[in-house]
Amino acid sequence: MLVSLKDVIDLAEKGNFAIPAFNVYNTETVMGVAKAAEELRAPVIIQVYPRLLNDEVGYYLCPAIVAAAKKATVPICFHLDHGPSEMEVQKALRWGATGIMYDGSVLPFEENAENTKHIVDICNAVDVSVEGELGHIGSVNDEAMDEFTDPNEAAEFVKRTNVVCLAVLIGNAHGHYKKPPKLDIERVKAIREATGNIPLVLHGGSGIPDEEVKAAISAGVRKMNIGTDVCCAFADGTKEVLDDPNRSLAVDIFMKHPIESVKKLAMEKIRLVGADQKA
Ligand code: 13P
Repeated sequence: MLVSLKDVIDLAEKGNFAIPAFNVYNTETVMGVAKAAEELRAPVIIQVYPRLLNDEVGYYLCPAIVAAAKKATVPICFHLDHGPSEMEVQKALRWGATGIMYDGSVLPFEENAENTKHIVDICNAVDVSVEGELGHIGSVNDEAMDEFTDPNEAAEFVKRTNVVCLAVLIGNAHGHYKKPPKLDIERVKAIREATGNIPLVLHGGSGIPDEEVKAAISAGVRKMNIGTDVCCAFADGTKEVLDDPNRSLAVDIFMKHPIESVKKLAMEKIRLVGADQKA
C-alpha cells in the first residue's frame, strides 16, 4: 500500500527500528526492493534523486514506483530524496510522491529554516510530510566534513519548520567510504534530547559497519538511506548474467538475475535496521 512518510516514520518510532530507504534508478531496482519488502513483511521507502525527475526517466520510473507501492501488501512510501528547490518538489508531488525531502543544508541556517518551512506548508496542504537536513552531508570524496549537526540548532530548526524527520551529519557521507566510518552516537542522543525526540535520518548507509548502524538506531535513527549498495547489487547481478555464455537474450529473462541481486541486498538491509516483520 502507498503510505505517507509520516506513516512509516511513526511505525519506526513506536517500534524502535529504522525504515530502510532505498534509492532506485530503474524498474528492476524498484522490483527488487518491493519483492524484498513483501517477503520480509517490512515497511520501506522507495526514493529517487531529483535528477531523475529532471530528465525523462521520471516519466517512466515514478508511475512504476507508485504501481509497485499500490500493489504491495506492506506499507511503501514514495519519497523525493534531496529536493533542491520547490520546482523538484512540485514535480515529485505531481508524480505522486508521498514523502518529500527538502535539502537546504548548504544554505545559511536562517535561509534553510525559512525554505524548509515553506516546503512543509506546501506539502502539508496536500497531506505529504517532509524530511529536512541540517549539517551538510556531502560525498566521501569531500575534503572536510566536520561541521556536524549542532543539537541546539537542530532543536530550533525542528521547532521552526515542523519537519517529521531530520537528516543529520554525524560522521556519515554519500558513496563508498574509504575507511569504515565511526558515527558520533553521543551526538545522535544529544540531538534527540534537544529536539524532543525528532526521528533522525542516516544518509550514506552503504558501507557503515553493522554495529555502528545498530548503535545509531538504538540512539534514535529512524530512517536509513541506501543508494550506492543498490547500484552495486544491480551492476554485479547484471555482470554475472552477461558473463554467462548460456544466458537468454530476452531482456526480461536475463534481468531476473539483477532483480534477485537487488532483492537480496534489500533483504539484508531490512534485517539490519530491524524492519522485518514490522508491516
Ligand atoms: P549511499 O549511496 O552512500 O548509500 O547514500 C545514499 C543516500 O544517503 C541517499 O540520500
